[in-house]
Amino acid sequence: MSDKTQFQDRMLSLGLARVSEAAALASASLIGRGDEKAADQAAVNAMRDQLNLLDIAGVVVIGEGERDEAPMLYIGEEVGTGSGPAVDIALDPLEGTTLTAKDMPNALTVIAMAPRGTLLHAPDVYMDKLAIGPGFKTGTVTLTMSPSERVSALAAAKGCSTEDITVCVLERPRHEEMIHELRSTGAAIRLITDGDVAGVMHCAEPEITGIDMYMGSGGAPEGVLAAAALKCMGGQFFGKLLFRNDDERARARKAGITNFDRVYTRDDLVRADVIFAATGVTTGSLLAGIKREPHCVTLETILMRSKTGSVRRISYRSPVR
Ligand code: FBP
Repeated sequence: MSDKTQFQDRMLSLGLARVSEAAALASASLIGRGDEKAADQAAVNAMRDQLNLLDIAGVVVIGEGERDEAPMLYIGEEVGTGSGPAVDIALDPLEGTTLTAKDMPNALTVIAMAPRGTLLHAPDVYMDKLAIGPGFKTGTVTLTMSPSERVSALAAAKGCSTEDITVCVLERPRHEEMIHELRSTGAAIRLITDGDVAGVMHCAEPEITGIDMYMGSGGAPEGVLAAAALKCMGGQFFGKLLFRNDDERARARKAGITNFDRVYTRDDLVRADVIFAATGVTTGSLLAGIKREPHCVTLETILMRSKTGSVRRISYRSPVR
């Protein structure tokens, strides 16, 4: 990469932080107002407007849904000014719409950008997910292990007891059996009601978040975003698509997926260096949420580039006009 291209890449990353901030700012007045749709729409509109100012020839590969379901930021939508690098864009303008509507922790705005053709076009189906932080040998834990085997394997690798491991899991009826098995190991479980991108990211900073491992099923698009974050922060991620019916299989085929049993690693989901930005909407263990004061709004954004491993935390204060 020439010096000029590297510089452009760095400047673009700052642009991506602005995109993420804009979506968060737009949702600020809707936190805790019980209206998930309005909060999401505000974030979508703002993210799209800001994204279209960037000098990129972008295509949304993870977005708000298929073209016939989502009028904005749909999969395949071209974004940016069109003059600049050809890139794939994965985004979730509001990851945790319910968390935002109920003013609960860990709602984020999220966007990732990588060279064209390098992010998996994940269909809108579930994905079985497993993540751990950096510093472990490849294969320390795998999707083929049972939940209790994963806890034992991670405890052995960390040189601690299974009681010292904390696993983050989405609280859903479909996870009851897994939670029961995890509890039998003595591990602690941090249950979250939504927001598994943040759930996975927590594994990368266990000393701050207290979480060692993430497991369970959630949205496949969120899986790609989580893999992008871990590619920047360090850590392992495994995902397998889960299909409940033929319609979901057809969605996968349409997205170009032929092997329905494949286990994707982090680097299969994100095949080149990626830039990732997320802004806190409601306060969580990783990011402060939006702080509204009479005359200003303060936001916190995490901006990361996997190429350099750089992680920036940007605090942004905007006057309320
Ligand atoms: P939304 O922000 O679109 O509501 O998604 C929140 C979320 O919790 C994701 O983080 C997660 O991947 C998915 O929903 C889980 O889906 P489900 O609620 O169907 O279990």
